Amino acid sequence: MQKETSLADSLTTDEVQRRIAELGPWFHNISLRGVQTAPDHFLGDYPSMKWKNFQNAIPQDLHGLSVLDIGCNGGFYSIEMKKRGAAHVLGIDHDEDYLNQARFAADVLDLDIEFRRMSVYELPKLGRRFDLVLFMGVLYHLRHPLLALDILRQHVTEDWLVFQSMLRGSRARPQIDEDYPFWEKGVFDHPGYPKMHFIEKSYSQDPTNWWTPNRACAEAMLRSAGFKIESMPEEEVFICRCDENAELHSLPEGMA
Ligand SMILES: C[S@@+](CC[C@H](N)C(=O)[O-])C[C@H]1O[C@@H](n2cnc3c(N)ncnc32)[C@H](O)[C@@H]1O
Repeated sequence: MQKETSLADSLTTDEVQRRIAELGPWFHNISLRGVQTAPDHFLGDYPSMKWKNFQNAIPQDLHGLSVLDIGCNGGFYSIEMKKRGAAHVLGIDHDEDYLNQARFAADVLDLDIEFRRMSVYELPKLGRRFDLVLFMGVLYHLRHPLLALDILRQHVTEDWLVFQSMLRGSRARPQIDEDYPFWEKGVFDHPGYPKMHFIEKSYSQDPTNWWTPNRACAEAMLRSAGFKIESMPEEEVFICRCDENAELHSLPEGMA
């Protein structure tokens, strides 16, 4: 039987270059036929430079596993998961322009990945769980970050959650007591007390940066949603699993 010609086979390098320009600007720098999608990224070779610091914390072989990549953007992490053999990779994003970038990148690389326009808040509608969920660089763009974590734990994560957030403030992890009397006020002034900074206007010229937690807050939110943190292989990345003994908090009506 004749092999179907893939986009990867049929496009010239010039055509790849032209299509990359048409689909831009890109946030993910991906090499497509030797052409970089975002060579001038303000963070450098992003997200490869981040990925190399935690890629060994995720199994090399994902055969037989399902992966959900939330806020997949140009598809960098979806592509890496598919390259590791994941049986099914679904990338979701609420931005159609990014999804078109991701579809093009996967086509050029000849990888079978599903990309769908969807918000993290709509995930209960999927009615299914994924062995591995990536929730990278999205939390701080959300108006309702804890709601999103509760949804991930209660509706879509079967086992592993790979979580990343921009973190600001203290990296301390003080011992927090189970309870404090009403007149204890000083504990809140400890720089390491779990804190979420609310950004009313804008940060880094991005008005969708709504929140930035300190490290203790990110950890506390993950635990409160029902995840246990297994490791932190990179300064912003947490490898988590579902904590089967956690008390899960009720979701708003219609999301339960
Ligand atoms: C900073 S980028 C992170 C991209 C990628 N996950 C990474 O770590 O490199 C944030 C992405 O989340 C997407 N996003 C923001 N809010 C979302 C929402 N409510 N539901 C789904 N995706 C969202 C944005 O469109 C964007 O692609």
